[in-house]
Amino acid sequence: MLGAADGLALACLTFKMRLPFPRAEGTRLPAHAILGAQWGDEGKGKLVDVLAPGYDFVVRFQGGNNAGHTVVVGKETYKFHLLPSGAVQGRRVVIGNGVVVDPRVLVQELDQLEGRGKKVRLLISDRAHVILPYHVSLDGAAEQGKGGGRKIGTTRRGIGPCYADKAARLGVRMMELVDPARFEARLREVYPLKEREMRMWEVPDAPSLESILKDYTPLGARLQRYVADAGEALGAALKGKKRVLLEGAQGLLLDIDHGTYPYVTSSSTVGAAGGSGMGAHHVEGVLGVAKAYATRVGEGPFPTELSSAEGVGKRLLEVGKEFGTTTGRPRRVGWLDLPAMRYTIRVGGITHLALTKLDVLAGLERVEVAVAYQTPKGTLRSFPSDEARLLGARPRYTSVPGWTETAKRVGKGWALSKEAAAYVRFVEKELGIPVVMASVGPARDATITLRRHPFGRA
Ligand code: IMP
Ligand code: MG
Repeated sequence: MLGAADGLALACLTFKMRLPFPRAEGTRLPAHAILGAQWGDEGKGKLVDVLAPGYDFVVRFQGGNNAGHTVVVGKETYKFHLLPSGAVQGRRVVIGNGVVVDPRVLVQELDQLEGRGKKVRLLISDRAHVILPYHVSLDGAAEQGKGGGRKIGTTRRGIGPCYADKAARLGVRMMELVDPARFEARLREVYPLKEREMRMWEVPDAPSLESILKDYTPLGARLQRYVADAGEALGAALKGKKRVLLEGAQGLLLDIDHGTYPYVTSSSTVGAAGGSGMGAHHVEGVLGVAKAYATRVGEGPFPTELSSAEGVGKRLLEVGKEFGTTTGRPRRVGWLDLPAMRYTIRVGGITHLALTKLDVLAGLERVEVAVAYQTPKGTLRSFPSDEARLLGARPRYTSVPGWTETAKRVGKGWALSKEAAAYVRFVEKELGIPVVMASVGPARDATITLRRHPFGRA
């Protein structure tokens, strides 16, 4: 039996009727996302910086100041934790509802940029949650194992406890922070619970309610002019055919749902639409960024890990300068893991890839790439959901020839050497999606376009 709705659909098909709702006809609006295809630190910040001129808005949609993006422009190096990387370019930047905001850090970053003569055009979602000092204290206590549970190796920036309060409906949002009366009322409501929690976790120097009010009310006043309904602003921008770039932080293997739980961050690294307040159908292209090898900071499974005390591992750590931007911790390093990337390509809806830090592999005689995992129960081509299965998996490697020179200068740009290009083609063939960009150094211009792609162009 056909319902009324089927009848309408049939009518549309039969008479090629134009629906009066343009979106429903599948109009594609130009929002793109850049996501980390590994465990974070893939070089997303640099690519955002390269591509930002092609967009009107650059939006962060999850995470907080656990992130660390390094952007090198000429002789200047910028390090961001909270502001979208597009801020250097003077793009309109948005901190979306899915982000957790530490107001102290945000004010510092604004001061840093404005101090260097950059004008920041910023919009902060009024729905974004605020990281308060007790979140930071509780993160530290949990990492010291005071209440039992596992050590995750977090950045201790209060990210997990802030998202936990959001989910428990105990959070303080930006719309409250910037309104002194509401801020005080909300803090008085939730603080007693937080105080008990801090006592339970034996937090030393637990921040008092009065000290929080005293320090954070002025921060709210400083940030007030940036706070608005960011989802609405983005909706209007898309309607006006503005171009929007959604900038991921961390990586898909750290996603709260799809990552290597419990060794994950507490946000949805895949959730570009939900974390910015736009519909998923607006995101027409997803650029996955991966290093030409792999790194991970903190605890958790890492199948292709190498010892960083010697040999190739030590070399990757040193040549790649693999130390965390946020915490300075040495990163764990290993070979490129294609089963892991087949997985992130699927869960992230990645349509194109960029490979970064190819130059770090230069000088190796052979480069190994994990193409599958061998488990007691057979071969796996993709990343298993169960940590127990992952821990029993041994990577199966394919060895490809290394290179001494990654890329040559050609005119104003660069071209990959024959061997480096062969490595990229091998990865592309194994993964079944195009590698459209390669990065061969930290500078903006050390970025090679390998294939036509939709990103960054107006
Ligand atoms: P949290 O996000 O501070 O709670 O840390 C949870 C896990 O995510 C830890 O393993 C961190 O090292 C990792 N992590 C958080 N932010 C980043 C990042 O920006 N790059 C790489 N790893 C990160
Ligand atoms: Mg980073």
